[in-house]
Parts: sequence; structure tokens; C-alpha cells
Amino acid sequence: MLKTKAETVLDPCIVVIFGATGDLTKRKLYPALYNLFRDGHLPEQFAVVSIGRREKTGDELRSDVISSIHDFSRVRLELRAEDEAFLQSFHYYNLDFYDSTSYDGLQTRLEELDEIYQTRGNRVFFLAVAPEHFAPIAKEIHGHKMAQNLNSWQRVVIEKPFGRDLVSATQLNEDIRHTFAEQNIYRIDHYLGKEMVQNILVLRFANTLFEPLWNNKYIDHVQITFAETVGVEGRGPYYEQAGALRDMVQNHMLQLLSLIAMEPPVDLDTESIRDEKVKILRSLYIDGEDVVRGQYGPGVVDNMQVKAYTDEDRVLADSQVETFVALKARIENFRWAGVPFYLRTGKRMPKKYSEIVISYKKLPGVLYFKSGKLEPNLLIIRVQPDEGIYLKFNAKRPGTLQSIVPVSMDFCQNCYEGLNSPEAYERLLYDVIRGESTLFTRWDELKHSWSFVDKIAQEWQAEEKQTVPYLAGSWGPAQADFLMRKHGREWFQEGGS
Ligand code: BG6
Repeated sequence: MLKTKAETVLDPCIVVIFGATGDLTKRKLYPALYNLFRDGHLPEQFAVVSIGRREKTGDELRSDVISSIHDFSRVRLELRAEDEAFLQSFHYYNLDFYDSTSYDGLQTRLEELDEIYQTRGNRVFFLAVAPEHFAPIAKEIHGHKMAQNLNSWQRVVIEKPFGRDLVSATQLNEDIRHTFAEQNIYRIDHYLGKEMVQNILVLRFANTLFEPLWNNKYIDHVQITFAETVGVEGRGPYYEQAGALRDMVQNHMLQLLSLIAMEPPVDLDTESIRDEKVKILRSLYIDGEDVVRGQYGPGVVDNMQVKAYTDEDRVLADSQVETFVALKARIENFRWAGVPFYLRTGKRMPKKYSEIVISYKKLPGVLYFKSGKLEPNLLIIRVQPDEGIYLKFNAKRPGTLQSIVPVSMDFCQNCYEGLNSPEAYERLLYDVIRGESTLFTRWDELKHSWSFVDKIAQEWQAEEKQTVPYLAGSWGPAQADFLMRKHGREWFQEGGS
């Protein structure tokens, strides 16, 4: 999608990154900016101000940018004159987030850069910092009149986690809304930037083939699996507060579920799409007994012995935080009544992949049933690592009289696009710069997904529900299989097998 020159004329702007020395900036933001630049998707008048708490010179910053592009960019760094000019547009500003006076200097610096780059006061404030800093930074931006929208625009990009429950998310939202209007708040869910996730609406609404069958008459159930091989990767303190429910289900999984289940929007306008997603989140229900809460013990992943969650750095030895969740949700509306949506996510699984499986209803047992077990038709949307769409159906085994085998029709997106399809952050940054917020979460989407997740978390708390252990390198606790089996179903493994 980002292969050609920008279709829209982009306004000049300065991207101000709070958290310049952090992991997100290094791994995702600098490489994404470089790739956008290489694809001609940055405004001509453009600069970056990286803000950090450490002292750093401009040259040191640019060498950080070079090594991050070198290590993480999908496009190789070249040092042609234009690349040099791109690197020269990065500036460092040293600031203590809690020292109000140092924001005076920031404002002056941004105004100077406006003069140099002709950026006219347009700004993207990217808060790549820990969530406790979101509101205080937004307050200083407001107090120093850096987001006044006077013949210019100012947008703020906020990473997850956006709160820890509905109450804290509402408070955070109110704090940020003092400074930025809703349409200028870009709440990131990086899954929405993934190519195949963007493809869901196209698949559903640009094909006659799927939409007529997209309902409870033809679909038996839907499965969404996000499996990861990694553990908590040194993020113990964060994960102890979040757990898999808040880390993955509340945001990425519910966003995908709402795209899969929403009604056709009246048009492709941002708000029309978000309106339909919100209706799904409002119609979402769960019964307490339909949730499995697991935690990994020691085991072997990728041929390596790994430790238990409770032995991870800065995790309580008796922690009851879940690293695995499986659940069965219901959508109570006319289209989906009676169709369970099974969600499963876990760390330290045998493989990393994210997939959505639409499992169609079985046929009445009259024809072909003597030819062996007739598998249901499956439509598989493969989000990662290989992007694609697969359709499984039954065909006659060649050379036999009646034997039937499941066969697969594949659309492998990576095969067409090569390995170079844009990273999620490229698309997301590009959209912020051009003021397009469809791939970001509106407040009411967040509100309803927190309500859903809060119900589960509160029930766990009230019942003091313990996690069930699973071996690292397994597909989670046996209870997750039982959740399926009690309704005569089972989890599909990768590729719907
Ligand atoms: C993040 C979570 O939002 O998504 C991480 O905080 C998780 O715990 C990550 O590992 C997964 O993202 P991806 O793009 O690697 O599937």
C-alpha cells in the first residue's frame, strides 16, 4: 500500500518523539521513518525532535538513528545525499518530563525549527514512554500552549496500555482530552497496522463470495489464535500489572474480533467503520466458566530450556498473573447469535503465529459420509508470520471412486509482495501525518473493550481464581482443550490443521 509516492499531499510537520532512547523508538519508529522517507511518504518539509532524559549531542542522536536503521529497517540504509539530508533533520532535545521549565525551551526550539523547515506549527507528539508519563506530558504540552491548533494542527500518538481498567482508562482519557480533541488523539493498536488485518474488510466487503455466508446460518464458530514463543522478555513489572488478558485480549484480539464481526459500514469513512466496530463490542458477552487462565512453567521452546514465569526477572515468586487466556465469547446480535467466538493467546507456545479461522457448518449427513470423515470448510486469515488467506474445502481424491480429501486454495500475500511488505508502524505513522485515524482506536471502542475485560478480571478477583499451569513449549493447559471439547469442537493448529 505504501509502495507508490504519497497519494495525498502531506502537510509539513515536526514529529516530536518523547522517549527517544527507548526500545520502541529504536526498533520501530526510526526504521519506520526511514522506510517512509525512502518510499516518498514523508512531507518535503519535515523534521524530527527526539526527546530524552539523557544528555546527547545531535551527532550522537544521528548515530543512534543510523544504527537503529541498520539493525531493524526492512530497507537497507544508503548514505546518498538525500539520506544525509534525512538524517540531518533529526534533532535532540534533553528534557526532564517533570520539570515544567524545560518545556519552555522545547517550545522555543520547536518554533526555531518551524522557521528552518517551514513546518508551520504542525506537530505529531509521539508518546513512546511508560504510561504513567502520558498525562503529565500532555498537561505540560497544554500548559506551554504547544497544542493550540492556531492555523496548524497538533496530534498526539499514544501507545498502549491505555489504562489498566475502565476507571483508569477513563481518567487517562479525561487528562489527555484537556489538551487534545478526540480527533487529534491517535491511540495505537499496532495490530491494526498489519497488512492482513487491513485486508479483512476488503476480503469481506469487496467479494461476493464471502459476505452472503458470513452469518450464523453458515458459520459454526470463529477461532482467533495469537501464539507467541517469547516469554515476558524483561518486562516483568509491566506484565505483572497486565497479564495476557490486558496485554493482548483487551486490545489486539478484540479489535480483530470486531473487524471480523462488524456489519458493513455505510461508507469507508473513519467514523462509519468505528461506529460498526463499537456495536460489536457492545454486543459482546461472556460467561465466567468459559474463560481459562494459564501460566507457563518451565519447559523447552525452540530447542531451548526456558524458565517458569515465576522465575522471570522482577516477577513475584508466587505470582498468579496469567500468561495464557482462552475464552469463548458470544455476540448477541441478529447476525451472530449462536456462533461462539473462541479466542486464545499465550506466551511460550511452540510457535509464533496469529491466525483467524472461520469454521463453516457441517453438512447434513446424507451424501458422501461413507467416504470418510467430512471436514468442515475453513476460511483462514493468516496475519503472521506468513500473510495470506486459505480456503479449505473437500474434493475427490484422484484415482479413487469416492474417497474425499480436504484440499486448500491459498493466497499467499508474502509471495506476491516479497518479504518487504511495510511494517505496521510505517502505515500507522504515515496515517498520523496525513490525519487519517481509521487504524487507531476511538475512545468508545476502548471503553467497551475495557468493560468486557473488566468483567472477566473482576470475576477472577472475586473468586480468587488461580492460574492453571502449562508447560512452556505446549499449547496451553488442558482446560483450554476442554473448553472446546465440551461443545464438540477443537482448536485448529496453524493453517487450520
Ligand atoms: C504487544 C504486547 O502489544 O504485542 C506484547 O505487549 C506482545 O506482549 C506483542 O509480545 C505481540 O506483537 P506482534 O506484532 O509481535 O505479534
